[in-house]
Amino acid sequence: MGFFYLFLEFGVYMKIIDIIEKKKKGGSLTEQEIKFFIDGIMNGSIEDYQTSALLMAIYFNGMNIDETTWLTKYMVESGEILDLSEISKNIVDKHSTGGVGDKITLMFLPLMAAADIYTAKLSGRGLGHTGGTIDKLESIPNFKTDLSIEEFKEKVKTHKTAIAAQTLSLAPADGKLYALRDVTSTVDIIPLIASSVVSKKVASGADHIVLDVKYGSGAFLKTAQDAEKLSEIMVEVGKRLGRNICAVISSMNQPLGRAVGNSVEIQEVIEFLKGNIESDLKEITFTLAQTAFEKTGKFTSKEEGFKYLEDMITSGKALDKFKEIVESQGGDISIFDDYTKLPQASIKYEVKAEKDGFVKNIDALRIAKACKNLGAGREKKTDSIDYSAGIYLTQKYGEPVCNGETIAVIYTNKEDSIKDAENLVLEAFEISENEPEPISLIYKIIH
Ligand code: URA
Repeated sequence: MGFFYLFLEFGVYMKIIDIIEKKKKGGSLTEQEIKFFIDGIMNGSIEDYQTSALLMAIYFNGMNIDETTWLTKYMVESGEILDLSEISKNIVDKHSTGGVGDKITLMFLPLMAAADIYTAKLSGRGLGHTGGTIDKLESIPNFKTDLSIEEFKEKVKTHKTAIAAQTLSLAPADGKLYALRDVTSTVDIIPLIASSVVSKKVASGADHIVLDVKYGSGAFLKTAQDAEKLSEIMVEVGKRLGRNICAVISSMNQPLGRAVGNSVEIQEVIEFLKGNIESDLKEITFTLAQTAFEKTGKFTSKEEGFKYLEDMITSGKALDKFKEIVESQGGDISIFDDYTKLPQASIKYEVKAEKDGFVKNIDALRIAKACKNLGAGREKKTDSIDYSAGIYLTQKYGEPVCNGETIAVIYTNKEDSIKDAENLVLEAFEISENEPEPISLIYKIIH
């Protein structure tokens, strides 16, 4: 008996084909089987076609919470785990599941730093229809996002925050699995999304994790119910792995803010920090910031927290912090006073409303697709992007429009992409006769 377990423990006895077979028949995998799988993809003993078969079996038969926790745990242990404890034991990380016009991180980090809360943020690039914070930052001339772990930690210590591209040394098993999921149509499955997100966050070393989970047309998950299910699983797995974690669930049916693209979004972030605040950006940023205040013990009252955040903006402290971050990572700070220093598109094309009324909806996915066609997004990780391309929505939800009035401005260097983009923008805008009711974007917070 002891001998049998010894074999299991060291994985000698196991065969990946048996694990695939077990999951194919709807069985639950053991901790040893999951460890064997992750070890095998890391040491190359399991072939990509076997991993793909197991991913598809998981796609159809799911994983229970124990399996999801073990998968996350061994993905974390497949690489380096950042130790930030010498800087602070109260460090916050924030992660969005991806959206359209989602520039929240770039307002959240300076606000946190201005409030004397440490954040350490590793971010990704845009993929598919969603934008990526690293791409947005790289539209600032000379901004450096490929920091070494030592540089990253040093900047967090000095400036209370830093933002760098996700390094391959953290949760590398996720990198391998994600690359296969991307080409085998196994991305949109809750236990795999949960383990992918939470493994990277746990490996990034923060004590408190605030997840910004999106649902709707512009998100990976289309319904609030699925976003809630994903959030509950991520929060449970994060807790089991020792993190103080919560999830704020919000709608991504319409783009966030007015700008969608890269340099246009940087401009909108600077305007927000200068006090020209879009209400949807404020609702999401302030709710996430207040959640971080509660986690770190800064403010427990929402009113106090929101008042403090408003003061950080009106006093200019949050704007100064963003300038400090840009300067510390080599970026050109003259962009703060002169937006023409950001990449500029050669073509600016105005899309006009085709009837009178009120904006009832702006479909996020159509706007995202239009932006990608204009050059702002990429299909494959290796594609290059045009930082100046994007769309600015001059009219937003609830605002009145007149026939012939400009509703959006297209920025591009690709003349042949304009007609399709214009059609997508016109299809995205739903204009109603009556003024729609105000809406709240926040659906639920899961602790
Ligand atoms: N974001 C991630 O990091 N992983 C996923 O699987 C999906 C979104």
